[in-house]
Order: sequence, then structure tokens, then C-alpha cells
Amino acid sequence: MITLRSQREIEKIRKASLIVAEVLLKLKEHVLPGVTTFELNQISEDLARKHKARPAFKGYQGYPFALCTSVNEEVVHGMPSRKRHLQEGDIISIDFGVVFDNYFGDSAITVPVGRISEEAQLLCTATEESLHAGISQVVVGNRLSDISHAIQSYVESRGYSVVREFVGHGIGQHLHESPQIPNYGPPGRGVKLKAGMVFAIEPMINLGRPEVEILKDKWTAVTVDRKISAHFEHTVAVTDNGPDILSHL
Ligand code: MF3
Ligand code: CO
Repeated sequence: MITLRSQREIEKIRKASLIVAEVLLKLKEHVLPGVTTFELNQISEDLARKHKARPAFKGYQGYPFALCTSVNEEVVHGMPSRKRHLQEGDIISIDFGVVFDNYFGDSAITVPVGRISEEAQLLCTATEESLHAGISQVVVGNRLSDISHAIQSYVESRGYSVVREFVGHGIGQHLHESPQIPNYGPPGRGVKLKAGMVFAIEPMINLGRPEVEILKDKWTAVTVDRKISAHFEHTVAVTDNGPDILSHL
């Protein structure tokens, strides 16, 4: 069952999502060579508290941090560490979510650490653009898999690969609600999109092969070929006037 949200509820999800967006913007300024991923985690917790919001990931299925920090070949769910100092040339995906007034917001960006290779920059740009290709399908009357298909087509036409093991999701009164939103698939399948549905769309895109594995820490997903990966995510509402990106500042 996919919950349809009233305009009042959508505004609450927007509030949560805008807090996430502001935190990500601030974190971006701190992504510099030498900074540890643990410091980024602490900053995200402090900022959430300042906004009177609760970090949504901390404690979720036992995840111990507020933030996910996935560096280079780490795809998603990278765990912050006091020992992981960012280095010039790295890319880092920072994924954050909060609950505010009982509603959730969820967003992620991948940012460069200092100067990075053109190859890495192109992957990041293509991943963000694939998210927007997906969002452009968030239109009343379209089918759910039109989002998936748009992302996959965009990504594969550029020679990159789509991660299959993790998907986007409905969001609202929980971090993860139905439906699941794969970042690949044929067009024209799944439910018809209706005004009031709210989705977190989150392509994870690999430079090399699509396969991922989970490290012994039980959380960190890395590419099997250890080539780099990027991740962008927005919380988006379906409206009669097209997609409303709730996590856009
Ligand atoms: N944006 C991710 C998701 O929607 C982050 C979840 S991390 C977790 O799954 F720790 F909360 F699982
Ligand atoms: Co998410």
C-alpha cells in the first residue's frame, strides 16, 4: 500500500527534507583533505540537534551513526571512522536523513575532496543527472518503473552501471515505506503514480561492474571490482504540477 499524503503532510516532509538539505550543504564545506568521516558525522548530529530534528539513520536496524560516509569504492552505508582521513582526489557520498515533527526526509550527494580526476567528476555528474532523469518521470499517470527505466537508460548510455542490491523507497512517517524503487527496469510497469505519493529516489552508480559486496562490518557496501561509485538522492512528491523536489534548498 502506498500512502497518499495531504498537502499538509507534504509540507511536513518538506520541512524535514530541507533540514537534511541544509545539513548536506554545510557538510560539503567540511569535505576537505585531512578531515575524518567521524568529524563529518559529529557535525551532522550537531546541526540536526540545532534544527530540533532527530537523525533518522541512528539506531535504524542497529546502524550506529547519524550519517553514512561512503568513500571511493564504497557504494552506500559507509560507516564514519575516526581513522578515515579524507585524501585529495577521493569522492565521498554523504547520505543523511532526519525526522522532524514525526515526518522523515532523506537525501544524499557525492562530493569531491579537493581536486579529483576527470573520470571521477564525470561519474558524479552523470549520477546526479540520472537522478534528475528519474525525477522527470515523477508525473501523475506515469508508472513507477518509468522512473527506474529513465535512470538506467541514462546511466548505461554513458557506459556506467546501476547497482541492483539497493533501491529507492517511499518515505513519510517512516524512513522506508512502500514502494521500492529500483534504479533499473523496463518502462510501463508497477503502480500508476498519483498526486500525494512521496518517494526517495536514489541511484547508486558504478564506474565499472554493477556488483557489490558487504564488508565484515555488516554495513559498508563496496564494489566487487573496487572501482569508484557515486550516489545522489532526493525526496520528491508527486503533484498535479509535476515533481516537487522536497529536499531542494
Ligand atoms: N538513504 C539510505 C536509505 O534510504 C540510508 C539508510 S542508512 C541506514 O536506505 F542506516 F539507515 F540504514
Ligand atoms: Co534513502
